[in-house]
Amino acid sequence: MSEVKSFADADVKGKRVLCRVDFNVPLDGTTVTDDTRIRAALPTITSLIDRGARVILCSHLGRPSGEGYEEKFSLKPVADYLAGVLGKPVAFATDTIGDSAKKVVASLNNGDVALLENVRFDKREKKNDPEFAKALASLADIYVNDAFGAAHRAHASTAGVAEYLPAYAGALMEKEVNTLTSMLDDPKRPFVAILGGSKVSDKVAVIDALIDKCDTLIIGGGMCFTFLAAQGHSVGTSLMEEDWKDRALAMLEKAENKGVSILLPSDVVCADAFANDANTKTCSVSEIPDDMMGLDIGPETVAVYSEAIACAKTVFWNGPMGVFEMSSFEAGTKGVAEAVAANADADTIIGGGDSVAAVNKFNMADKMTFISTGGGASMELVQGEALPGVEALK
Ligand code: 3PG
Repeated sequence: MSEVKSFADADVKGKRVLCRVDFNVPLDGTTVTDDTRIRAALPTITSLIDRGARVILCSHLGRPSGEGYEEKFSLKPVADYLAGVLGKPVAFATDTIGDSAKKVVASLNNGDVALLENVRFDKREKKNDPEFAKALASLADIYVNDAFGAAHRAHASTAGVAEYLPAYAGALMEKEVNTLTSMLDDPKRPFVAILGGSKVSDKVAVIDALIDKCDTLIIGGGMCFTFLAAQGHSVGTSLMEEDWKDRALAMLEKAENKGVSILLPSDVVCADAFANDANTKTCSVSEIPDDMMGLDIGPETVAVYSEAIACAKTVFWNGPMGVFEMSSFEAGTKGVAEAVAANADADTIIGGGDSVAAVNKFNMADKMTFISTGGGASMELVQGEALPGVEALK
């Protein structure tokens, strides 16, 4: 982040600081069910408060239509939750750039905090509309972007607004970018990457990029069946992308040429339906019944993967090994999480999204070195793509 100014160096006392955070958190009605992203933003928010800034937080939540207010995407419950965590009031603006926002901002004293309503209620946010960005900027004197989770989006509040205000990176943004960048540029070896998730097509660029960086690549999740099919296995009714088999073979070949070992499952848990109470069978990958689908890696595979993870000095993990949301198919993901958690000698980095949900489900978050708050953003960074939210700060 050398080309980006740190918010730690900004003179914020008495200034109105527009701070873009990623408060895109899961809600059950008005209850925040996972506050990881809110807590991750606290170092920046509390530093701004302690330094006497007038803190104006803004964020998106979900994917509203952009045609105005939608109750289920309102950030009001998040404002209330944040107030509880901070132990001080959080003024809530019922719009983003309108009268309510102006009034709330005008009422802030040094050290006060406000949260604006969902920036995506206005469709100009996602279009990175300059007028919308200018209106947001006009609320503040300084802009701080701490929303790593949305840094892969070139939107008005994540990128456009930086054109109109002195712009800085927040503490979370710096930590995320520095951790992931140094993992890629200078990992302690052996570097073991673990990739899961349902589709090869979604992860091709990440797999390709990681083959260039890591020593061992462990593959699980639905996408392993495309690899297994490409190797000639019959995968029954498992998720498999016929059109990606050649690409999968090409990746195996690339890894072999580079001396990178790719580990694929040797056994899987199959089911006759995509349901927790389905009939299941654990079998070798060469014996998957025609009428069954693989929904998890098997115990033999977990043992082999765990052994590789135990030898690592750097572990990067993105994507579950199976359908861990269903207890019948959680053992593979849990086993891998246990292996990662048990390796206290390694830098263990969890790359956002479902793998974070899995680590939280198995209560292992505090055993990991770093948990990224960005699913899409961390994948794009690993793929070597420039993040608009970071570029805008340069
Ligand atoms: C995320 O949850 O990955 C970020 O908040 C970005 O959300 P988006 O994919 O809706 O842009």
